[in-house]
Amino acid sequence: MKRIISPSMLSADFGNLERDTQMIDRSRAEWVHIDVMDGVFVPNISFGFPVMKPIRQATSKVLDVHLMIVEPEKYVERFVNDGADYVTFHIEATERAEHCIELIHNAGAKAGVSIKPATPTDAIRDILPKVELVLVMSVEPGFGGQSFMPIAVDKVKELAAMREEMGLDFTIEVDGGISSKNAALLFDAGAEALVAGSAVFKAESPEQEIINMLEAK
Ligand code: DX5
Ligand code: ZN
Repeated sequence: MKRIISPSMLSADFGNLERDTQMIDRSRAEWVHIDVMDGVFVPNISFGFPVMKPIRQATSKVLDVHLMIVEPEKYVERFVNDGADYVTFHIEATERAEHCIELIHNAGAKAGVSIKPATPTDAIRDILPKVELVLVMSVEPGFGGQSFMPIAVDKVKELAAMREEMGLDFTIEVDGGISSKNAALLFDAGAEALVAGSAVFKAESPEQEIINMLEAK
């Protein structure tokens, strides 16, 4: 199974966004995770369109945009136009999930759907055939630096079983409280992409922490 690390720019130094993005660009991380928060879907506000351009210019890696915003269908196209390769929205944030997926695809990107810790995997069963990515939250969305919630491991296993049973090939990604200490557990459960914010950016050597996650046993 493939192993991908997606460092979360939420934990980067915004006074040195270009430097931090270039560091990820040199590292073995294949994706760059961009957390967009609106202060409505989650009790925090991060950043939006203005960070897309400097990040896109500083790296050729896959831009993995995680929208924690209500009515994502209003904004998904613009994120694609600004350079997103994957645009992931929350199933809890929209009544129009299929429309949202269509807009992302028509704009030329891959579509992801995310579930909060309290949302069962069954809530997205019907749309699994339409997405390229499923993002399992292992913390309540809104903040970096929280503790990993083990319920995410069961959800990854359920999704891996659903993927097999339905003959699909979406990527399973997990986000929140992940480091080289629990990476192996998630990869072994069937996840292929892991998001890490504080573990990477607070490490003495971010590039080494990425390697440690990729090689975790
Ligand atoms: C939380 C965000 C995460 C966050 C992860 O709402 O979706 O991507 O940056 O940060 P850590 O790895 O510190 O839990
Ligand atoms: Zn995220």
